[in-house]
Amino acid sequence: MSSTASSPATATSDTFAESLRRTEAIRSDLDAHPERYRVLTGDRPTGALHLGHYFGTIASRVVLQDQGVETWVLVADYQVITDRETTGNIQENVRGLVLDYVAAGIDPDRSTIFTHSAVPALNQLLLPFLSLVTEAELLRNPTVKAELAASERALSGLLLTYPVHQAADILFCKGNLVPVGKDQLPHIEQTRVVARRFNERYAKKNPVFPEPQALLSESPEIPGLDGRKMSKSYGNTIALGMTADETAKIIRKAPTDSDRHITFDPENRPGVSALLTSAALCTDGDPVQIAEEIGDGGGGALKAFVTEAVNERFAAHRARRAELAADPGYVSEVLRRGNDRANEVAEKTLDEVRAAMGMVY
Ligand code: TRP
Repeated sequence: MSSTASSPATATSDTFAESLRRTEAIRSDLDAHPERYRVLTGDRPTGALHLGHYFGTIASRVVLQDQGVETWVLVADYQVITDRETTGNIQENVRGLVLDYVAAGIDPDRSTIFTHSAVPALNQLLLPFLSLVTEAELLRNPTVKAELAASERALSGLLLTYPVHQAADILFCKGNLVPVGKDQLPHIEQTRVVARRFNERYAKKNPVFPEPQALLSESPEIPGLDGRKMSKSYGNTIALGMTADETAKIIRKAPTDSDRHITFDPENRPGVSALLTSAALCTDGDPVQIAEEIGDGGGGALKAFVTEAVNERFAAHRARRAELAADPGYVSEVLRRGNDRANEVAEKTLDEVRAAMGMVY
């Protein structure tokens, strides 16, 4: 990969349209030159991964990895405490994430799966990086504002500054491509600013950091069972690790409506349409066509169809997950290897940072 170059096209706008346009250009370049890219992405271990994660980002990480792009996957454990008081069921959540990653096809022999808390040199980058941003920049980050509002708590120092910590997540390994959803674009823009300012202040001749780009998710927001965005905080998710019976049960409880004729109409029929979208994603089909097939079958037939679609799509994933989970040392071993590799790279980058800042004594 080109470690530090930023093409002219990457220098300015942070608008959604601009990011979409760039995503298209990157996709075609990726096919020709996978070696130019280093992908870093991650998830907060706040709960079980669900269909929204899978179709929104996990599936595309696997595609990138299989295309030969160097891929780093972060279990962002320090980000758990940005908007809540404690780490909660962190052990179980981290374990679940790793099992789902590997079951989905992220191969720990080719990709690096690691956690924040095990990589001190990554976290140390936060110190110089904080000097590169202003309070005003931090306060206007729309994603932080939304998370603050949803948290119903006072703004903590970490919630305010975690986008800078996220810049360290991306830059410690010199990631230059970050597959994300729309809500993460402000953080990518902040990361670009951090990289640019560090290079300008300390490393003009020999830039240390690339200015990473967002690779926007291909599928639009995945609706949860109630038609709102699928999210654990709405309690409308289908978890990847659910059993077939749990899946059937939760789909049975999903809200539909009294019109037996099934149509795809997200505006007026959010529940019915969300179920159709899930079925379409799981069968690589089209929601309008699935609606036509079900016709006058009503909510019952629709739910039976969706249940089968989800259970079939994830049968192999779930079997593999159960197999991995049966080995008690497996997850720790994956993380040990990933964390070792992440530490090696983070220490090297931190050395470059110290050298650029004249802090070598
Ligand atoms: N903030 C991301 C989310 O909530 C998770 C995350 C942490 C991340 N560090 C990252 C994503 C670095 C991309 C790159 O989904």
